[in-house]
Amino acid sequence: MSLSNADAQKRAAAMQAVKLVEDGMTLGLGTGSTAAWFVTLLGERVQDGLRVRGVPTSETTAALARQCGIEVIGLDQVGFETGGRIDLCVDGVDEVDGQNRAIKGGGGALLREKIVAAGSDRVVYIADASKRVETLGAFSLPVEVIPFAVAFVSSRIAALGCGPVLRQTADSAEFRTDENNVVLDCPFAVIDDPESLAAELALIPGVVEHGLFLGMIDEMLFG
Ligand code: 5RP
Repeated sequence: MSLSNADAQKRAAAMQAVKLVEDGMTLGLGTGSTAAWFVTLLGERVQDGLRVRGVPTSETTAALARQCGIEVIGLDQVGFETGGRIDLCVDGVDEVDGQNRAIKGGGGALLREKIVAAGSDRVVYIADASKRVETLGAFSLPVEVIPFAVAFVSSRIAALGCGPVLRQTADSAEFRTDENNVVLDCPFAVIDDPESLAAELALIPGVVEHGLFLGMIDEMLFG
């Protein structure tokens, strides 16, 4: 199989991450093409006898994990109430800066991705070199919004300095997340102060979650 340079890098990063997996672990399984490499390579280790459980961050990843023979569990089966944790979460990014601050949500799974990362002891994200940036913002920041509030939230975000675009599917239908919300893609171009922007977005009623992942990534692995 001949891979593009980017795909070869994604696969190489995923291979490094798979080496971190130990028998008996509970894993957070990310979403997107890079995370899919991780799930596929993990599946190969499972075929060889590795025992793990995976909490997928999207229905797409859940389907792929099952196909690869990985035991899939829901977040409510981790056992947080009795001290249970996700040992390791592996996911991709849309952009990441030198301080491991990232934009995620290109695949629309940011809400579950952020919850699963927050519930994990160790968060390792994987990427090809094109995802590394000096300053966040060239990638439009995804913001998940409840459908009722979309016009209101859109006007509030516009006041922060960008023109949000309601995400559509390839066949021009309204995109819905796994939680049945919509996504506003926000082309800020340059996000000089991600922490302040994150705080402002979190204060807008109707915003369910935004795609700024700050202080969440323990380690970035590049292919
Ligand atoms: C999905 C995500 C993905 O991790 C992100 O979009 C990167 O995807 P890819 O690995 O396909 O470039 O955040 O919501």
